[in-house]
Amino acid sequence: MNDPRLGNVVEMRDIVKTFPGVRALDGVSFSVRAGEIHALVGKNGAGKSTLVQILTGLYPQDSGEIFVRGEPIERMTTTRAKDVGIALVAQHARFVPGLSIAENVFAGSLPRTRGGFVDWSRLHRDSAERLRRFGLEIDVRRRMEEVTIAERQMIEIARALFAEASVVILDEPTAPLPKHEVRMLFEFVRRQRERGATFVYISHYLEEVFELSDRVTVLRNGQLVGVTPTSQLTQPTLVRMISGTDVERFRRPARGGLGKPVLEVAGLSRPGAYEDLSLRVHAGEVVGLTGLEGCGNGALARGLFGLEPLGVGRVLVDGKPYRAANPAEALRRGVAYLPRDRHGLGIVGIRSVRDNVSLSVTDKLANALGFISGRRERSLVGKYIASLGIKTPGMGQAVENLSGGNQQKVVVAKLVATAPRILLLDEPTQGVDVQAKVEILRIVDELTGGGVGVAIVSDELGELTDVCDRVLVFYRGRLTREFRKGVDEMTPARILAAIEGEVEEGVDAVA
Ligand SMILES: Nc1ncnc2c1ncn2[C@@H]1O[C@H](COP(=O)(O)OP(=O)(O)OP(=O)(O)O)[C@@H](O)[C@H]1O
Ligand SMILES: [Mg+2]
Repeated sequence: MNDPRLGNVVEMRDIVKTFPGVRALDGVSFSVRAGEIHALVGKNGAGKSTLVQILTGLYPQDSGEIFVRGEPIERMTTTRAKDVGIALVAQHARFVPGLSIAENVFAGSLPRTRGGFVDWSRLHRDSAERLRRFGLEIDVRRRMEEVTIAERQMIEIARALFAEASVVILDEPTAPLPKHEVRMLFEFVRRQRERGATFVYISHYLEEVFELSDRVTVLRNGQLVGVTPTSQLTQPTLVRMISGTDVERFRRPARGGLGKPVLEVAGLSRPGAYEDLSLRVHAGEVVGLTGLEGCGNGALARGLFGLEPLGVGRVLVDGKPYRAANPAEALRRGVAYLPRDRHGLGIVGIRSVRDNVSLSVTDKLANALGFISGRRERSLVGKYIASLGIKTPGMGQAVENLSGGNQQKVVVAKLVATAPRILLLDEPTQGVDVQAKVEILRIVDELTGGGVGVAIVSDELGELTDVCDRVLVFYRGRLTREFRKGVDEMTPARILAAIEGEVEEGVDAVA
């Protein structure tokens, strides 16, 4: 093969990496061809992030070799990675808030006038021009926090590419993205590939892997399972490679005979967020709240948890008037919430898995004198680690050292441990692997068996139809449709049509 585009730009051989108590990579080889989109998949904790972090010099490997365009790299460092054109676009991009897009594009090397002042007109002209070269028409004067996450990621990718990166690594780029922004990002990535860029793409969304990638590398438990052209794979085969077993999709049977309402909302309005919402969640019921980004479902959940004002209207929890000024009060009243952004208020990163799970339930563990029983604590925490399959060397491990998906599971355990009356979950399966998705949904089912009411804010329509008794559709702040399992035809396609605001003839809106 003389065409250099067909050669390997990156080749990692027999990479070993251990962290205290964990063999994160156990002799993994990984290679990427120029001009391809190469998906890297595997369960939570399989070693994906560690592998690409080694490739970009964030960690040194214990042993193993790295070649870039055939040249061995003795010691990969972040500077070296930049020099050889490998860039990692992290999910949580390092932007300086408060600055404009233009300033971020030129971060560290703003054009100056002869007098040494920032040359604003040149800055704006040049940054707009640079982004346009990558097909991005964006007003560069806007501040970074005003752009959508997808735009931010595209700007990050463009920034990496004009810094001469030829290999761009995306570690779970779409996890925080609403579906329509995923489309935009994918088109952008494909366009950049046409222009010669190479991508490594890490994701738990297997449909996206099939849609976007040319080849797939699968890791399991720090070991290489296989490398396959995507076109030769089927979804069940890939799931088996990832999990080592078949994973049954979890379908929660419709449960008849619901209990009393645990949450009642009547005529609730908050300007700019939602208008005249009325809904109920019963004990033992799972209700999906879906719609486009900003349709009001997420705002309602945050409001109920005391993170945002609820607005005017009536809210009852367990039949009693309800308002929570803050999350602590919400938890005391039996309202628990899983935030979409697990790096936000969900976890206390530097504390251990044990502390994180038990912090929220100290009163349940304390005996009459107020001492926490170590034995009871260990058994409670141990139970959650086992039932959710949390991959950790021990309860004492700091949560920030766990893989992304395992952090998410710790948050779920923490919430479940508070024994809530109503559990609000915002995109609960985001960033978790196929098997953990099923485990989380199973836990939701168990909770409802115990009389908890669950509301899931999500646009994973397949999952919603699998677990929900009802799915409520929000459109521009209003509740527009209701789908009841076993009564209405509750399919992802029908819900999607409702989400996009299509009026279907002959179907009643929510009563
Ligand atoms: N800094 C660290 N200290 C200790 N252990 C770590 C550290 N970073 C990663 N690990 C461990 O190494 C293993 C691999 O983690 P890694 O983050 O690479 O997984 P991943 O495949 O990216 O998972 P996910 O899909 O959940 O993001 C995990 O068991 C994790 O707990
Ligand atoms: Mg990861």
